[in-house]
Amino acid sequence: MSELQSYQGKATMDKITSLAKRRGFVFQSSEVYGGQNGAWDYGPLGIELKNRIQAMWWKEMTRLHDNIVGLDAAILMHPKTWEASGHVENFTDPLVDCKKCKSRFRADQIPEEKLAEKKCPDCGGELTDTRKFNLMFKSHIGPAEDTASVIYLRPETAQGIYVNYKNIIQSNRMKIPFGIAQVGKAFRNEIVTKNFIFRTCEFEQMEMQYFVKPGTDEEWFNEWRRQRWAYYEKLGVKMDHLRWHQHGKDELAHYAKDAYDIEYLFPMGWRELEGVHNRTDYDLGRHAQFSGKDMQYIDQDNNNERYTPYIIETSAGLTRNLLMILCDAYDEEQVVSEKNSCSSAEPQVPQGTASGTAGSADDWRTVLRFHPDLAPVTAAVLPLMKKDGLAEMAQDIRKELQDDYSTDYDQAGAIGRRYRRQDEAGTPFCVTVDYQSKEDNTVTLRFRDSMEQIRLPRAELSARLRQEIKTYKRIK
Ligand code: GAP
Repeated sequence: MSELQSYQGKATMDKITSLAKRRGFVFQSSEVYGGQNGAWDYGPLGIELKNRIQAMWWKEMTRLHDNIVGLDAAILMHPKTWEASGHVENFTDPLVDCKKCKSRFRADQIPEEKLAEKKCPDCGGELTDTRKFNLMFKSHIGPAEDTASVIYLRPETAQGIYVNYKNIIQSNRMKIPFGIAQVGKAFRNEIVTKNFIFRTCEFEQMEMQYFVKPGTDEEWFNEWRRQRWAYYEKLGVKMDHLRWHQHGKDELAHYAKDAYDIEYLFPMGWRELEGVHNRTDYDLGRHAQFSGKDMQYIDQDNNNERYTPYIIETSAGLTRNLLMILCDAYDEEQVVSEKNSCSSAEPQVPQGTASGTAGSADDWRTVLRFHPDLAPVTAAVLPLMKKDGLAEMAQDIRKELQDDYSTDYDQAGAIGRRYRRQDEAGTPFCVTVDYQSKEDNTVTLRFRDSMEQIRLPRAELSARLRQEIKTYKRIK
């Protein structure tokens, strides 16, 4: 695929998976028992990154919109919810098995001619007939395992919003148009889980449901498409790695009148990142029918006009966004030498200085070019040496920064190697404390992307970081 040349052979899913494990972003679930398919654990850097992606989305959807409020609904819902939503009946994938090698496939993902011939694409063995497989995880609530105790793990967060929409109108005096945002876990018994955390059985969604007057739905649908595109621009990701895909008639979910995916060019090709859906009045209409409750909106500003609102949904995978951010940020480059703009302050220091000790002609680095607002660690404080009071001074500086920034402290090994470790974790700023720091209370600020270094008074450090974060522009 020619578009994949933009990765220039750098980011592959294998490299990203291995870096994620090595640096504590993502681990395989239950690894000591050989791993659990479709489930992943987020390590110290991973949870920080995930929290920041979630916080950016939350700010964008709630704080920056006067008419969107938040919700955290339970994962376990009354089982009738899923009959009403259509998931019991329609949320299925077509499944075939190979009788010979026992491989399992989604019938819509194997070549048509193989399916027609009933031939396994892996071993050529005979395939079973296609059967429908419901993706919802079923369990039982209470001690009895009978049909009356069946309960489902939610396959989307959206339904928790729909069944609460009237509560929120009443408690928060919302007027149409308005939105409800939610972030939370969802579960799907996916037949094929591959490509690391791209498609998993347990994942997180960031969904916003926008309630509008029928007839204005198409206008709002277009507006939300515009806003969601602008959001990724703001995140600073490579915009030529994003495109729209409109669902054809055969792709539309059972609830949708129109749907567009924002697709991202992952190392394995273009894949869905987020969906914008016009769900019409389907969900509220069905909940009214199955619960017997009135789901209509009463427009008090318009002669108490009653109608069932239409819903425009924006639905993004949080864990899939994290994978996208990792792929987007990943870079490898040859380092000729670390640039040094503060060498004039250094020569009198015989023990080595913060600058000039890293990099050689054949030195390569792996760097994650996260936006500083997303980076798990904003600033790492590194004493040039452990001795002579430099470590104490560096720890002191870390304490000063801790209240405002996520920080790391590293005193182990050569300074060049420590910079590389921070590059690989995506830390945008390193603060280095050297012998000159002790003399004049200045520090070196090293920038991850350009590897440039500047010298500045310690007292100006925090304000400078704030300014750098605010004005950050990705250079590669
Ligand atoms: N409420 C609508 C809905 O759930 P969807 O297209 O099925 O729509 C929305 O899912 C988003 O959730 C997707 O664009 C994707 O980012 C994420 N997603 C869906 N299934 C996933 C899975 N098995 N693993 C990880 N993320 C998933």
